[in-house]
Amino acid sequence: MLKPKILVAGSLNMDMIFETKVMPQQGQTVMGSLFRKAAGGKGANQAVQMARLGAAVVMLGKLGRDNMGKELLDIISSEGVDTGRIVFDEMVSTGCAAILLEKNDQGSAENRIIVTPGANMTLCSNDIAGVKKDIADFKMVVLQNEIPAAVNEEIAMAAKAEGVPVMLNPAPSSHISEKLLKTLQYIAPNEHELYDLTGVRVREGDRLDEESLRKAVVFLHKKGAENVIVTLGSAGAAILYKNEYLYSPAVKGVKVVDPTGAGDSFIGAFCFSVCMGIEPGKAMEFANRTAAMTVTRHGAIPAMPFYNEM
Ligand code: RIB
Repeated sequence: MLKPKILVAGSLNMDMIFETKVMPQQGQTVMGSLFRKAAGGKGANQAVQMARLGAAVVMLGKLGRDNMGKELLDIISSEGVDTGRIVFDEMVSTGCAAILLEKNDQGSAENRIIVTPGANMTLCSNDIAGVKKDIADFKMVVLQNEIPAAVNEEIAMAAKAEGVPVMLNPAPSSHISEKLLKTLQYIAPNEHELYDLTGVRVREGDRLDEESLRKAVVFLHKKGAENVIVTLGSAGAAILYKNEYLYSPAVKGVKVVDPTGAGDSFIGAFCFSVCMGIEPGKAMEFANRTAAMTVTRHGAIPAMPFYNEM
């Protein structure tokens, strides 16, 4: 099998995970039940997911010159991700995320995440000059919103100029310029990011409003992105591809032990599949299955499924 070569330009974070049965209110201290540390960051998560499925992944990103940076670099390279394009900031520390994992009595979990981006946000034009020269070597470029928007724009423009498809996972939500939107072959927000980008709510509690969903994806397509994918958690995913709308429900009966990284698993699996020549509707179904497996395990990177598990 020829491995598709994919570039991920994005974040690397050390995730500090606090498990608790009770979320603290303002001014309140609560006792948690467990602490875990795991490699994460949306960029690194997506890179590892694609590498575990069989892609040749090059990661571009920035770490601090500290223990967390060293640990993350070791973990990512032990996953077979090419870390030759990762650079270091001598002054600013490695990105870090506080993840509050709220467990209910049945053992299912929901999370809340605070990211302090650190060195991820000092990635600059100088750091990407080398990779821009080689951009034509890649089958796809994958971006998120945890590095500076100007860097995303510069990489996306370089990729577009060479005819390399660009995927943007606009997470966490932030402003996306028209210039960037017009370079995108794929944009893949979740329902909250979709709301921030379009003002359209597509879910009320458990009820998915498919008519609003269709309107929102068409709106985003008209703003410039060629194809639009929306991840909807327990409600599955939808895609507007070449003006055709397709919906895929989530895998049923999954016990959510830790939802962290499920969206990244989806993006990684979708991009890998499309690069392998699988048509986007089927790629979305496969990505739903990898995301469903991810939520049954702890942590982001440790939870990403391998190809032979699927
Ligand atoms: O998408 C999950 C990721 O978001 C975590 O790994 C955390 O680091 C934040 O980037």
